[in-house]
Amino acid sequence: MRIEYNCDLSGRNTFRMKVRCACFVEYGSVAELAALDWASLPKPWKHIGGGSNLLFTGDFPGTILHSAIKYVKYVDMGLDEVPVVVGAGVCWDELVAELCGHGLWGAENLSLIPGEVGAAAVQNIGAYGVEFKDIVSGVSCFDLQEMKPCKFSVAECGYGYRESMFKEAGGRYVITSVLLRLSRSPRPRLEYKGLAGVDASSPMAVREGVIGIRRGKLPDPEELGSAGSFFKNPVITAEAFVRVCNAAPGVTVPHFVLDGGMIKVPAAWLIDQCGFKGEREGGAAVYEKQPLVIVNATGNASPEDVLELERRIVATVHERFGVALSPEVEHL
Ligand code: EPU
Repeated sequence: MRIEYNCDLSGRNTFRMKVRCACFVEYGSVAELAALDWASLPKPWKHIGGGSNLLFTGDFPGTILHSAIKYVKYVDMGLDEVPVVVGAGVCWDELVAELCGHGLWGAENLSLIPGEVGAAAVQNIGAYGVEFKDIVSGVSCFDLQEMKPCKFSVAECGYGYRESMFKEAGGRYVITSVLLRLSRSPRPRLEYKGLAGVDASSPMAVREGVIGIRRGKLPDPEELGSAGSFFKNPVITAEAFVRVCNAAPGVTVPHFVLDGGMIKVPAAWLIDQCGFKGEREGGAAVYEKQPLVIVNATGNASPEDVLELERRIVATVHERFGVALSPEVEHL
């Protein structure tokens, strides 16, 4: 167990905002979590994973909690659907590499997504036609209201596009481990158009293909601070979509029709059309190769720089297309 007061968080958020928190707690087991002297911890309490989907808008006045529960347990390798229990503090991509190394199918499309297992379960991470919800079958938590462990089935997790019951519950449930189900039988998922030419002979081959695509489009977190996609892809009505088309005469607007008739339009396209690629605000910038990503271009961007760039993008896209973008990155 590690408890530190007035702790520097600059190494704990991938945007590399230079902020501090009143208290930082890192625990290594459910027992340690349960044994914490909660009454002594400054509020609010906020649990983080790898800090890869967060924007600290200033110093955090309360307690930041972090899981160091790191284990990967293969329940029965003999089954075709292999159950695997994974601690919330395990690095997501290290887990994906390990699963692919064992020849298990299911997680390979989710390669190179930053962050930790607990946050993957809160956020329902997704990429290239697969979401976390497709491979999870149960989530174990510690309930901060009742102060006791509890479990949820996938149905109870209420998963949707970057959504879950855990997000709705506003931090009540600390995820301690997840139960995944991976497949021994080949199950390549290559419907996403960018994956068309990828070698699907093994989970590792697909992983390598996905890594190649992501490296070409997304900033390397080691080189450039960011929090991945800054905005969600907006889901709009058919009437709203007609307005978008009318605002871009002569251009085919990329879109995906969802069950029920609503239309998902890529936020990257809307932002790109408004000419924001490479746009700067203080130390922050819109990433050249993928305008859905805001980067800490100088390493010295302040939260205000990022917030101002966000405000300008939202206002311009709304003015031009009548579409309200909402952030995917959580603001603290
Ligand atoms: N586009 C442009 N200009 C650009 C780049 C993209 O117009 O410079 C348009 C194109 O029409 C392209 C479309 O945007 O077809 C969609 O781009 P892409 O398929 O690369 O993905 P995305 O919708 O921008 C989502 C996720 C990513 C995930 C990719 C791949 C969200 C908010 N983002 O991005 O997730 O990796 O799909 O599946 O859903 C993340 O959440 O942090 C993240 C990176």
